[in-house]
Amino acid sequence: MAIFSDNLHLRNHWYAIANVVEVNAGVIGRRLLGENLVLYTDPAGTVIAAPDRCPHREAPLSAGTVEDGVLVCCYHGWQFGSAGKCISIPSADKDFPIPRNGHLPCYKTEVRYGLVWVCLGDPVANIPVIEQDAMPGFRRINNPVETWAVSATRLTDNFVDIAHFPWVHTGTFGSSQRTHVPKIDIVDLPEGFRGYEYDVVAENPPSAQLTSGQVEGNANRFMTTGYYLPFTVRSTIAYQSKLEHIILLLPTPIDDVTSNFTFVVWRNDDFSVSSEDTIQFDRMIGLEDKVMLEKIPGVLPFEKGALANTQSDKPSTAWRLKFQELLSGK
Ligand code: FES
Ligand SMILES: [Fe+2]
Repeated sequence: MAIFSDNLHLRNHWYAIANVVEVNAGVIGRRLLGENLVLYTDPAGTVIAAPDRCPHREAPLSAGTVEDGVLVCCYHGWQFGSAGKCISIPSADKDFPIPRNGHLPCYKTEVRYGLVWVCLGDPVANIPVIEQDAMPGFRRINNPVETWAVSATRLTDNFVDIAHFPWVHTGTFGSSQRTHVPKIDIVDLPEGFRGYEYDVVAENPPSAQLTSGQVEGNANRFMTTGYYLPFTVRSTIAYQSKLEHIILLLPTPIDDVTSNFTFVVWRNDDFSVSSEDTIQFDRMIGLEDKVMLEKIPGVLPFEKGALANTQSDKPSTAWRLKFQELLSGK
């Protein structure tokens, strides 16, 4: 039995599972909340997500092929088209009716921010809104969906945590930061996020200058960081130069202890630097988190008293409380 990833309430939320370009390029398999899924784009251009199990003899459909939006099973060639409907059984007479249970039971999907989002149940919350996505002047930069050997619980805990910056992010922005974290107030942030506001004096080495948009000294950032249940975290960074940089961090549980992870960035720069160059610094920061977090096995403990907390852990405590409420259906 799983610790949290088989919780039924979690199935009623949206998870970013793939970049849409991956699914448009062919059939892929992903695992979400302990369940193997197949993803493909049907003839109407709709992304289909279904159990990765052929209704005929349970072959993994992700091992099949897609041609013109039709998914072909690699075992006996059954074909699945729009909305997962079985449209052809090569071994059967033409007039043989498609068995009622021969179609794919599809899950809800949405394409938003260049990502495929899947909900395994009935959504009780919206995909987080990033208002800058519709604002002229902002560009969006996507990143690969990676598999990290880290529990989604630890990813979210880490992404709302400031105290690790000067210890973990020494190769990027962290070494000039105070180790002391002032008292944090948890407040409502725009678009349903909940978190805190803070100022950061960040290192601005040459590798960071394409991201910060300034060449001199340290970069002063006004930041907000907040969670959106179950696991999403948004960090907004406003530089003195009026440059805004919004990061949406998206841990998606594969199971209790492994996650798919990607992040999306929006920024209102002058577009003079390529997206690839702009994003390198954030990728280096993410790698520092990955190296740290993959050292910590298992799920973040939730039992009272299992973890020692201090004032800097207030955002994590706030998220954990709400996450536990979600798990218990409150
Ligand atoms: S198992 Fe897929 S067609 Fe037979
Ligand atoms: Fe970090």
